[in-house]
Amino acid sequence: MHIALAQPTSSKGSAVWAHTFAAVYDPFLWAGERAGVRSLRRELLTQARGCTVEIGVGTGLNLPHYPDDLDQLLLADPDPEMRSRLERRLRRDGRRARLIDAPAEQLPFADASVDTIVSTFVLCTVDAPDVALREMARVLRPDGQLLFIEHVRSDSPMLARWQDGLARPWRRFARGCRCNRATAELIASCGFALDEVREASWRAMPPIVKPLVAGRARMGDGDG
Ligand SMILES: C[S@@+](CC[C@H](N)C(=O)[O-])C[C@H]1O[C@@H](n2cnc3c(N)ncnc32)[C@H](O)[C@@H]1O
Repeated sequence: MHIALAQPTSSKGSAVWAHTFAAVYDPFLWAGERAGVRSLRRELLTQARGCTVEIGVGTGLNLPHYPDDLDQLLLADPDPEMRSRLERRLRRDGRRARLIDAPAEQLPFADASVDTIVSTFVLCTVDAPDVALREMARVLRPDGQLLFIEHVRSDSPMLARWQDGLARPWRRFARGCRCNRATAELIASCGFALDEVREASWRAMPPIVKPLVAGRARMGDGDG
């Protein structure tokens, strides 16, 4: 008897689109990277230290910017299409890192074992970002840090209305990405203290994903 396994039907779309999206990801971002995001990544990632975990690594656009003296670099992404591109990039660049098949909501690391977590353009896509942030708080050491760049809900009421209006088609196009999520507030509400946060604009990208926040969050004093 042949049993057909259902394709994943979540907001992330079909297997064909998963393959295509991974293939066009770097070209789609190319102009935005050149127009400023590459520098933002470089600036942020000089702060990575110790045992570093990147969640939602995608095709690995952060890889060239990590310091060479990290204790360990662990790269997690639940998407096999993204991981296979990442694997190719690692081979090509000769970078030593361990690839892990895991969503941010379930990180396969011990409590208080990680010094740095990196999340760039990921918390918009994670289905349960509050669960993911609590999971990050669990695995980070008390003096650990979360380094992030995320596109966020606009402070401008007019642009926020556009983000709300286009949220559904954008989510379908961008494999689960929510263009109207207030991610900085979410990070703070999950027990992190925001530190050195700056706002920026994602130039050369559609207006609904232009507002960016980048910075560092540390474990707050609360119980998260
Ligand atoms: C927009 S891409 C960002 C890729 C990369 N971080 C960057 O800066 O270009 C979003 C990534 O999040 C991954 N992702 C989706 N759901 C996730 C989850 N629950 N936990 C962690 N990563 C997830 C996707 O597979 C994809 O690689």
